[in-house]
Amino acid sequence: SSASKEGYPHFMLKEIHENPIAIKDTISGLLNDIDRVKEIAEEIRNAERIIVTAAGTSYHAGLYFSLLLARRGYTVMPLVASEYHSVRAKKGDIVLAISQSGETLDVKMGIRKFKEEGAKIIALTNVIESDIARESDYKLYMRAGPEIGVAATKTFTSELVSLKFLHSVVERESLDYLEKAHEIVRNVITETEGFAKKIGEELANKNNIYYLGRGLGVPLAMEGALKIKEIAYIHAEAYPAGESKHGPIALIEKGFPVIFINTGELVDELEKNLQEMKARGATTYSINVNERLNFSDNEIVIKSDGRLAEIIIAPIVQLIAYYAAVRRGYDPDKPRNLAKTVTVE
Ligand code: AGP
Repeated sequence: SSASKEGYPHFMLKEIHENPIAIKDTISGLLNDIDRVKEIAEEIRNAERIIVTAAGTSYHAGLYFSLLLARRGYTVMPLVASEYHSVRAKKGDIVLAISQSGETLDVKMGIRKFKEEGAKIIALTNVIESDIARESDYKLYMRAGPEIGVAATKTFTSELVSLKFLHSVVERESLDYLEKAHEIVRNVITETEGFAKKIGEELANKNNIYYLGRGLGVPLAMEGALKIKEIAYIHAEAYPAGESKHGPIALIEKGFPVIFINTGELVDELEKNLQEMKARGATTYSINVNERLNFSDNEIVIKSDGRLAEIIIAPIVQLIAYYAAVRRGYDPDKPRNLAKTVTVE
């Protein structure tokens, strides 16, 4: 049945390994739905402002999309769903609501308010005909398949893929580079799982972790830190790497673990931040696509299509958190205090 672990010790590990198939299904689903995607892309191009509302992991995917649009000159506002009171929408605005479950109450309350204020709503959900999909003007589905683990994994990757796809349609760019994405991610998982396990097990002995990135690496750093908090119960924080010198660096002492996400952009700047951390005794780790960071104590470098960098990095940060949790003796499928779907405010 779909609720079987198929030989994996946990649903979470099974679902991380389902990233490639989720990516494949996401892309073929969107290609089948291309007319609707084009219609949505047109709405985005014509919008005065784009408000992206989502919670937790889905918020990180929303931030990624917001950054993709912002760097092309769009007026875009990533919004933590529960803060919907802080933003007033108006006619001409487009609201993109991202929710794996399609049932998160904070997201639902927000889209109801924004709709009343005159905005059009686009939903991206995994669960077909969920409340959020039904209440929206346009629906997109990520089609990652059912996710049992409370910690979102393959659905995060599917969100990134859906949003990258949508962004390429908005920009009228070719979608060819997505064709091999699932195979690339399958190989990356095979090649990096040992490294992720080693890092995860090292982190299992730590009380604090920083995750740093720049540009599109920031949402990945945030997701990496959230995963560690959720299932390994280690205090992990993410910052844009350049921001770390404005405060967070004060905590660095010998052996403080700092993980750098290097998507291949702003590499020199990131390397400076790494050296600042090392100079204060940090133990540094780097997850790199195409370009290395010099002086990193531990590194993995993946050579691939740079346009897929964030999609490639997603499963690696998931694996790191998984192996940290298992080493600490926790069941990653049943994190304390958390529910798969949050239907309270
Ligand atoms: C992710 O690991 C968490 N379980 C949580 O942050 C989740 O992403 C959030 O509650 C949003 O859920 P949704 O995508 O179903 O709306």
